[in-house]
Amino acid sequence: MTKAAGKTKKVYTCSSCGGTASKWSGQCPDCGAWNTLEETVQVQPSKAGGARFAGYSGDAHRARVQPLSAVQPEAETKTGTGIGELDRVLGGGLVQGSVVLIGGDPGIGKSTLLIQTLGHLSARRPVLYVSGEESPEQISLRAQRLGIQGDDLRLLAETQVEQVLATAARERPAILVIDSVQTMYTELLQSAPGSVAQVRETAAQLVRFAKQTGTAIFLVGHVTKEGALAGPRVLEHMVDTVLYFEGEAGSHIRLIRAIKNRFGAVNELGVFAMTDRGLREVSNPSAIFLSRHAEDVPGSIVLVTREGSRPLLVEVQALVDESHLANPRRVTLGLEQNRLAMLLAVLHRHGGIAMFDQDVFVNVVGGVRITETAADLTVLLAVLSSFRNQPLPVDLAAFGEVGLAGEIRPVPSGQERLKEAAKHGFRRAIVPRANVPKGGVKGLEIIPVERLSEALSAL
Ligand code: TYD
Ligand code: MG
Repeated sequence: MTKAAGKTKKVYTCSSCGGTASKWSGQCPDCGAWNTLEETVQVQPSKAGGARFAGYSGDAHRARVQPLSAVQPEAETKTGTGIGELDRVLGGGLVQGSVVLIGGDPGIGKSTLLIQTLGHLSARRPVLYVSGEESPEQISLRAQRLGIQGDDLRLLAETQVEQVLATAARERPAILVIDSVQTMYTELLQSAPGSVAQVRETAAQLVRFAKQTGTAIFLVGHVTKEGALAGPRVLEHMVDTVLYFEGEAGSHIRLIRAIKNRFGAVNELGVFAMTDRGLREVSNPSAIFLSRHAEDVPGSIVLVTREGSRPLLVEVQALVDESHLANPRRVTLGLEQNRLAMLLAVLHRHGGIAMFDQDVFVNVVGGVRITETAADLTVLLAVLSSFRNQPLPVDLAAFGEVGLAGEIRPVPSGQERLKEAAKHGFRRAIVPRANVPKGGVKGLEIIPVERLSEALSAL
């Protein structure tokens, strides 16, 4: 039943020009590039075409041109996963027929999260967990530790994707987990599991299955240290949603970030804590990244950032130290390095403060990665505070984008950020003038700035 509808043929495709060849060679016969031919599968369309998975009707609307307004989409229902923070990054829940890729370093908690999710879901929907990495015994041990009943949690240890799909077509799960896509292989290709060709082809088969049967699929993908060549990156365009696990070694905080989502907002952040009984949701994370210092210290200031739909308070630390290198170091952790170089240039040109003979290190505490420009002003204030060895008040928070002309630009949701700061006991905030709410914020002294020079004199 899972045999491809058309005949399949193995070809070698050039990853540079897309040309194909029937035999492998070191050089692409079309564009002349070296080492670009990769084994791929070409499906030749069968005359009958159509339904691959009997009993499902996925292809019914194929190849019909119609006006957009005539299309009546079925109401997109989202199934709650039973884990609020996961629902948040999924955009409200799991959509039927969608494929969600969960990437992350080995050991960060992907399998744990998914087995917990299936534990919740299996009470209501048929689910199937396919593991190519762990034996059923290992999975069972883990589930026991996590306190998962597992009566309705169906388990399969298999690595051949054709077998997996045949089983899935029989079992008809509403949610299917593939852990991990790197362990799966298709018999159509000879290359080893985990190679780009295998990962791409098995994922393509799984995506097709999801679309044709309405099964929601979670694909687990390991990010490899060497730039993730065979990792999840090659799959990002094929799937509906891409979630990445982030977290610092040694910290129990785990973040899940949506970096692509056809059904919701991107950059939404889910926050979990890894405990001895699995991942626990942190549903009010706004202050977990604050390390409160007992007294004022130079180089430290709190940023009110906004990840997805909620504000988050994080501490930004800077250390400026005399450099003995021809090229002083500009090191950032949790921030973009080029942005720091740019901010230092703005500080020089518009603030008259030179750091060409200083090493500058900036760190966002707690392993959070800040992707928004609202951190600019905070970073500059932290750098300056360290440079001058002048502590900033502990009850001071800041945010704002810094432009190349030395202007401080407003950022989205200013009022919400200020309220969050006030809620957590901050008494002063340096923010862009355009972000100051009309009525002010109760209990918070707001210092509006429009130019870098104003920010400097506000210190
Ligand atoms: P795992 O989910 O197996 O990672 P991945 O599938 O992403 O490779 O997580 C493994 C790590 O999580 C392991 O180092 C131990 C830790 N862990 C806990 O701390 N508590 C738990 O309850 C579980 C199940 C795992
Ligand atoms: Mg795993």
